[in-house]
Amino acid sequence: MQDSIKEFSMDFFSLKGKVAMVTGGNTNLGMAYCVAFAKAGADIFVPHFLPDVVEVKDAVEAEGRRIGFLQGDLTDAAYRKAAVAACLETFGRIDILVNNANIGLFAPFEEYTDEMYLKTVDIGLNAAYSLGREVGLVMKKQKSGKIINIGSALSFTGDTGCPGYVIVKHGMIGVTRVFANELRNDGVQCNCLCPGFFKSDVNTGVAQEIVDRVAAQLPGGKWGEFGDLMGTAVFLASRASDYVNGWAISVDGGFTSVI
Ligand SMILES: NC(=O)c1ccc[n+]([C@@H]2O[C@H](COP(=O)([O-])OP(=O)(O)OC[C@H]3O[C@@H](n4cnc5c(N)ncnc54)[C@H](O)[C@@H]3O)[C@@H](O)[C@H]2O)c1
Repeated sequence: MQDSIKEFSMDFFSLKGKVAMVTGGNTNLGMAYCVAFAKAGADIFVPHFLPDVVEVKDAVEAEGRRIGFLQGDLTDAAYRKAAVAACLETFGRIDILVNNANIGLFAPFEEYTDEMYLKTVDIGLNAAYSLGREVGLVMKKQKSGKIINIGSALSFTGDTGCPGYVIVKHGMIGVTRVFANELRNDGVQCNCLCPGFFKSDVNTGVAQEIVDRVAAQLPGGKWGEFGDLMGTAVFLASRASDYVNGWAISVDGGFTSVI
């Protein structure tokens, strides 16, 4: 029997002693990643845009973990640097980055302006790349780290009414492959976690017709619950996934596997 079989342990899934930065970790799916990591033993740092942080703070502290915050706009380069510096100052390291922040702008094609497109790409893709590079260089020095980029079912499929979102989410797989390769010899892995459909602020503008069409393709006609994402997030953040690099994993109830 190989030694690696004997060495494997459920402790490989533990995040004890780790520090996780989750962008937009004070709302919806981001909050689920924060709580999942805290339950697995990590301290949390949240660069946040919206002011309210009470719910995630209480939930992380209830797990006996520490949490730090810095509010700002991730499209601002100075703020991205400040967020990395603040996390390092608070916790001394960054083991996990979740590039979760994004905006969902929806409109018929005729009304979908270039400004809407550029705004979507700026936060969803450009800021994710730039923050990921910044944090990736910290991880490179540490000789370990996990970057999790948040994709979507729309990383693999298209749809109407959200051109910027589709382009951003396809692009997140490209960003994932870039980090996976650039940092592959430095003990850093980067993967893309692709949620299916979860009721949250990002899709409140989605037309009812799309909501119904999506539900028809989901097991039991049911959109996802935030908790459905937590196990995969912990796996991708943990030692258990050290041999998984540069790939995308869907947590979508099978949505993208049907025709
Ligand atoms: N909800 C879903 O069904 C679903 C499905 C697939 C993928 N996703 C992805 O999951 C992620 C989280 O989405 P969510 O559903 O939790 O919605 P959300 O709106 O709660 O999350 C987006 C977060 O990004 C933050 N943000 C927006 N603009 C920012 C900026 N300029 N600077 C810094 N932060 C900014 C928001 O404040 C928010 O905290 C997004 O990347 C989204 O595309 C969501």
